Amino acid sequence: MNSYMILKHLHMTTAYLTVVLFSLRLLMDAVGRPGWRMTPLRWIPHANDTVLLVAAISLLFVGGWNPLEQGWLLAKIALLLGYIAAGLFALKVTVSRPIRVVAAVLALVQVSAIFHLAMAKPVLF
Ligand code: HEM
Repeated sequence: MNSYMILKHLHMTTAYLTVVLFSLRLLMDAVGRPGWRMTPLRWIPHANDTVLLVAAISLLFVGGWNPLEQGWLLAKIALLLGYIAAGLFALKVTVSRPIRVVAAVLALVQVSAIFHLAMAKPVLF
């Protein structure tokens, strides 16, 4: 396997893991188990997301992708910022429950859109 394919597999694996780890934390909070914040689940998602982003940026360099030429990539980056922001609110204990639920839905919608853009690579401009 060449280095591009290794990076792509790493990117995809960590992309699926980010959703699993985010959903798991939402689920733990939903069933009244906020204690995950005192376990490795506190840092594992951050480590995964760091690898996800490093692999993403490496793909741009190795694959010669340019977000200013590929609209789907630019949209992905914008949605990623929205996913991060909504995800922070969804998991913040000091935020009220209704706002956390709305933030969780927004985060899941945005990450779904990221997957769609990544797979369909539509021509946006
Ligand atoms: C939560 C954030 C992200 C998720 C969930 C995600 C998910 C994915 C997935 C599943 C693929 C493979 C699509 C396929 O071919 O079937 C992919 C491809 C790709 N992603 Fe991401 N991605 C994310 C963030 C990013 C970011 C921030 C960048 C750029 C800075 C990026 C750059 C790319 C590139 C260039 C490809 C194309 C690889 C190829 O088809 O050869 N991704 N992404």
